[in-house]
Amino acid sequence: MSNKDPIGLFDSGIGGTSIWSAIHHLMPSEDTIYLADSKNAPYGIKSKDEIIGLSIKNTEFLLERNAKIVVVACNTATTNAIKELRAKYDVPFIGIEPAIKPAALHSKTQKIGILATKGTLSSELFNKAVEIYHDTEIIEQIGHGLVELIEAGHLDSVEMDQLLRSYVEPMVEANIDYLVLGCSHYPYLIPQLKKILPENIQIIDSGEAVARQTYNVLKANSALNQQEKGKAVFYTNGNPKVLDGILKHQYAVEYKEF
Ligand code: DGL
Repeated sequence: MSNKDPIGLFDSGIGGTSIWSAIHHLMPSEDTIYLADSKNAPYGIKSKDEIIGLSIKNTEFLLERNAKIVVVACNTATTNAIKELRAKYDVPFIGIEPAIKPAALHSKTQKIGILATKGTLSSELFNKAVEIYHDTEIIEQIGHGLVELIEAGHLDSVEMDQLLRSYVEPMVEANIDYLVLGCSHYPYLIPQLKKILPENIQIIDSGEAVARQTYNVLKANSALNQQEKGKAVFYTNGNPKVLDGILKHQYAVEYKEF
């Protein structure tokens, strides 16, 4: 691993840019390559084997472009495929998992809600993590349809509002005090969620923790880039306009078949 090589990130689509933002904020001097596999989104309803296959394909794409570390910026891919990726490749992998630990540790009502994909909620990795916090009631909700709407660029739509209400209102009734966002697409829904949730409910996602972990691994490997300003490259096999929009038109986005 050379310190001048880029950090590679992939997600099933545009959602992992929430993780990219946290990484770019913490390490602005790093070069980054982001891969949005939007053509195959959502991963959350696919089988474990399909998710592993797609994660391998995405990893190869990033390694061909010399990624020194691969950030799996997708909870579904992490919880279903990171073990296989780590076994197959020498490069370090950073995964993202729902932040149930801080929510369970800080919850006063001992009830927390989690919104994630079917693939994440049914994974062995997630269910093992849940077992550790058996003193806390964890209300799980699959975010059916949310990723599809985000990928279509319909963040702020009536349909989105209705779906979100139907998912989180029962949790509010049940007296949760934390809502864990267990999908890297969902931080983009925070403004809409804040309109629905009472103020005492805290929303948490894993972006900053993933960025810190990436920094720590690079530092431990003496692989941090010392240059002044890193450059960012974004690839998508979906609609480049949607990725460009979520990045607020600040970066070059390249369409690529893969
Ligand atoms: N952004 C992804 C995640 O964190 C996957 C969503 C999907 O493709 O279903 O789970």
